[in-house]
Amino acid sequence: MSSIENQKITKLSGVKGMNDLLPVDAKLWDHVEKMAMGVARSYGYQLIRTPIVEHTAVFQRGIGEVTDIVEKEMYSFEDRLNGEQLTLRPEGTAAVVRAVIENNLLYDGPKRLCYIGPMFRHERPQRGRYRQFHQFGIEALGFAGPDVDAEIILMCQRLWDDLGLIGLQLEINSLGDMSERSAHRKALVEYFEKHQELLDEDSKRRLLSNPLRILDTKNPQMQSLVEKAPQLISYLGPASLEHFETLQTLLKANNVHFKINPRLVRGLDYYNSTVFEWITSQLGAQGTVAGGGRYDPLIERMGGKSAPACGWAMGIERIVELMKEQKVEEMQSNQCDVYFLHAGAHSLQIALVQAERLRSAGMDVILHASAESQVSSFKSQIKKADASGALYAVIIGEDEVLQQRAQIKDLRRSGEQQAVRLEDLLDEMINRLVSHSEN
Ligand code: HAM
Repeated sequence: MSSIENQKITKLSGVKGMNDLLPVDAKLWDHVEKMAMGVARSYGYQLIRTPIVEHTAVFQRGIGEVTDIVEKEMYSFEDRLNGEQLTLRPEGTAAVVRAVIENNLLYDGPKRLCYIGPMFRHERPQRGRYRQFHQFGIEALGFAGPDVDAEIILMCQRLWDDLGLIGLQLEINSLGDMSERSAHRKALVEYFEKHQELLDEDSKRRLLSNPLRILDTKNPQMQSLVEKAPQLISYLGPASLEHFETLQTLLKANNVHFKINPRLVRGLDYYNSTVFEWITSQLGAQGTVAGGGRYDPLIERMGGKSAPACGWAMGIERIVELMKEQKVEEMQSNQCDVYFLHAGAHSLQIALVQAERLRSAGMDVILHASAESQVSSFKSQIKKADASGALYAVIIGEDEVLQQRAQIKDLRRSGEQQAVRLEDLLDEMINRLVSHSEN
């Protein structure tokens, strides 16, 4: 008996919180990614790809030792060959900054960069919160002014508009500079020390290590305590206030609505000055679809020459989920533009040649193929064409072969069918697709 027959074969499963992207969702993902890259390009941001694995120190130093990500959520391991401590990247910013310093990318001035790819955090999986998730992010490195803070926020607004998403709310705050934060920190520690008995275990620990994060608590019993805590905004000096106010003026001038949330501190330690999040109420507990801000101290902290910077990242799973929730995806869910029907033999040969012509012109085309060796009936082919989401069916049956014609059927709007000469098929399809996208 072979060894496989001796074993009881069990079904293998994927890792919890790490999902397959199935074909049914692939088109929508592709659409979101392309739109995000398109927006980035239109603002002059260039793609950078960093490895999925970095030295653990990149994130410890970049994100900060006393953060949930570094304390509890990193997938870290020792390289078996040389004992190096490595980590699957939990976010993109620290890795991009490492790459920028290592490759001296700021040697000739500031840089606008964007990235896309999987990130890994060992969180408790739930709707919208995964252990492997995907971010699209941008980083503007070397720019100090609030004009760039406004630019990166406008990019988000443009992306939501391009994707057809509605109802996303922008919350902003300013974390000031180091000295303002340390004055606020002192006041915060004094305040929370006075109310030690109301702090939960996590907050007691944070009181010593990172009191600002107490403001971020989700514990309902601590909400009224946190609401009355000293606010950072009252500790901002004139330069920080001016930066924050200019940002607000620029956002208003561009009709971007926002709310100032004085408790918005973000979960990563590299931020200063502007921070922001885009939030929806339509995704349950995980409603933050994008977040970011300024991180002026980070480049120097990571070993580079001091330079200001800001950026944001969005969770692609959350955006896709929101598009489904808002039913925006219906417009995008077609697998192809054109579905070819044929009667086998000679008509198949012609359909194949014509399908190739349309593909060369940039159209997505499916040519009907059957599971069995005989060709399926036109009735069953048209059902498949309909299910594919194609905008048009092109039918080449035996009669069409004799007449050197094809029938074009509008599957989505009129349902009408029209005969065209084979030599005119390409031009006719181009015209129809252009007018379809304009209406
Ligand atoms: P973040 O807020 O940790 O920021 O993540 C950005 C976005 O990634 C979140 O708003 C959310 O949409 C998504 N996300 C985070 N964790 C998960 C998860 N477990 N499952 C699904 N989606 C998730 C950063 O990562 C910063 N690097 C952003 C940044 C760039 N700041 C400056 N530049």
